[in-house]
Amino acid sequence: MNFAPELISLLRGISKLVALTGAGVSQESGLRTFRDAQTGLWAQYKPEELASPEAFRRDPKLVWDWYAWRREAVKGVRPNPGHYALAEMAKRVPEFILITQNVDGLHHMAGNQRLIELHGNIQRVRCAECYTFTETWGDDTKSVPQCSVCGGILRPDVVWFGESLPRDQLEAAVEAARTCEVFFSIGTSGVVQPAASLAFAAHSRGAVVVEINAEPTPLTPEANFALQGKSGEILPRLVEAVWG
Ligand code: APR
Repeated sequence: MNFAPELISLLRGISKLVALTGAGVSQESGLRTFRDAQTGLWAQYKPEELASPEAFRRDPKLVWDWYAWRREAVKGVRPNPGHYALAEMAKRVPEFILITQNVDGLHHMAGNQRLIELHGNIQRVRCAECYTFTETWGDDTKSVPQCSVCGGILRPDVVWFGESLPRDQLEAAVEAARTCEVFFSIGTSGVVQPAASLAFAAHSRGAVVVEINAEPTPLTPEANFALQGKSGEILPRLVEAVWG
């Protein structure tokens, strides 16, 4: 893939870049996305039965076990070249902010420190009642582990459908999108709000929008540069072409 010379020169000269990532950036690490036909998690499981506060109230054990299964899947994988290329970008651009919808923690593992986790992190567990975080919990096969402070049941520290995003993370993400020169949207279908609005907010403030995705999304017609393909292949090449 050859990159437009104007994209290369633009990236060489910028001081503030923001990147938003979704499940697609972790696909080449072996983690399933959500909405890819057949392979996406939502092609096999119903989000309303597994990823909502109502589902947790209805059957906490079912939800707990599903996230325990996903947590094990995450433990079994490593960042891919796409994650590492973003960590490399962070070293090259004076102000680089990474916003992710992913709860897998792979960006952090790849070395990105300035990270906004919009949807939480599956490795973190907290009490559903008193919000106390805990590093350890018993894996009783019959019931969901309980909070050692208030006795409430534990849950993964992720944002479920119908729940609000963590206010400080969302405010930081909106601020970053509104003040960047270039906004990258990488490996996201762009259908889940409020994350899906960030690229449009950046564009309306004059930022150049670059999309890297395996297939077209609602953002594609609006993007200044739409690079279609795998982020684990495109991002390392782009970093090499700009800063190599
Ligand atoms: N490289 C680039 N893009 C890819 C790759 C890849 N290797 N593999 C898949 N994609 C693209 C798909 O074409 C799709 O457009 O990544 C996108 C993944 O979209 P979704 O599965 O909808 O994931 P995401 O956008 O992150 O979902 C947003 O929805 O289910 C909730 O909370 C969950 O954070 C998630 C949110």
